[in-house]
Amino acid sequence: MESLLSVENLTIYYWTLRGYVHAVEDISFSLDKGDTLGLAGESGCGKTTAMLGILRLLPYNATIKGKIIFEGKNLLEIPIDIFRKEIRWKKIATVFQGAMNSLHPTMKIGDQITEAIMLHEKIGKKEAWERAQKLLDLVGVKAERADRYPHELSGGLKQRTMIAMSLACNPTLIIADEPTTALDVIVEAQVLKVMKELQEKLQLTMIFVTHDLSLIAETCNKVAIMYAGKIVEVGDVVAVYKEPLHPYTQKLLAAFPSILGRKTELVSIPGFPPDLLYPPSGCRFHPRCDYAMEICKKEEPQTISDGKRLVACHLHTKGGK
Ligand SMILES: Nc1ncnc2c1ncn2[C@@H]1O[C@H](COP(=O)(O)OP(=O)(O)O)[C@@H](O)[C@H]1O
Ligand code: SF4
Ligand SMILES: [Mg+2]
Repeated sequence: MESLLSVENLTIYYWTLRGYVHAVEDISFSLDKGDTLGLAGESGCGKTTAMLGILRLLPYNATIKGKIIFEGKNLLEIPIDIFRKEIRWKKIATVFQGAMNSLHPTMKIGDQITEAIMLHEKIGKKEAWERAQKLLDLVGVKAERADRYPHELSGGLKQRTMIAMSLACNPTLIIADEPTTALDVIVEAQVLKVMKELQEKLQLTMIFVTHDLSLIAETCNKVAIMYAGKIVEVGDVVAVYKEPLHPYTQKLLAAFPSILGRKTELVSIPGFPPDLLYPPSGCRFHPRCDYAMEICKKEEPQTISDGKRLVACHLHTKGGK
């Protein structure tokens, strides 16, 4: 079966006055319909950049290479006006961190969702308004609040409104980038519950970006671990959490003593993430890795797969044995 989304050798650099920031380097992963992929890694490792690449929302100083195959077509080859009209929001929607602050302050929330629907679909206002009400019901904001203004709603309800907005055009894929980070822990749990229910009910395919591994355990079936612009391990959540193969994944998981117990912040692992202007040679994790060998400083580990799990580490390739 062909994957719904297949990201192949995606590389994204930012040009700055100090040089090129190697934010995403040669990453590959794929998603089948109905998958929820958790994308995790420390702050600054390139998670948002990779997602902005898929959504084609990168800033002007970014360059992008590689392929993003979605429903059989390379998104990077679609003219941007067609991408805006036919793909973004309609097929691939997003909910991002603090999205609730992007609601229009002087417009009723129902009108805002109605407008989003009408922008992408040729349907009448009445029908669009009814759909907006249904969506508000679906995310637990309740249809009768469609007449409210954003300032009349709590942060959690506003973020749920943004989730309703992302669902406005029945997208196939939703990219949620730290969607609950700006919320307090109790509200965060409620919003996540809504997202998980929606995912199951609507058979949505989702990429859930977070630095919190416990949230991934609760919501995702697949996980991809990023370190310094590279994906170092990808696989089934249960398998990766039970037996992480990459030393960085092992460290990250060890920083979460109880995956199901809630942690608001990632306990830091020794050392610092590298400066992506000058990423380390060979394996980018070698300065912080307890198992680093000579080869790790010189040669970049290839990604190997056993059919189920992908890992990029010399401990698992012939070079390291
Ligand atoms: N517009 C930009 N210009 C230059 N560098 C950027 C820009 N946006 C992000 N970066 C850099 O790219 C790297 C990856 O950032 P980001 O994708 O936001 O990581 P994450 O979402 O994992 O925290 C960081 O080193 C960050 O400083
Ligand atoms: S390739 Fe080497 S440095 Fe990198 S994670 Fe594996 S053992 Fe550690
Ligand atoms: Mg980010």
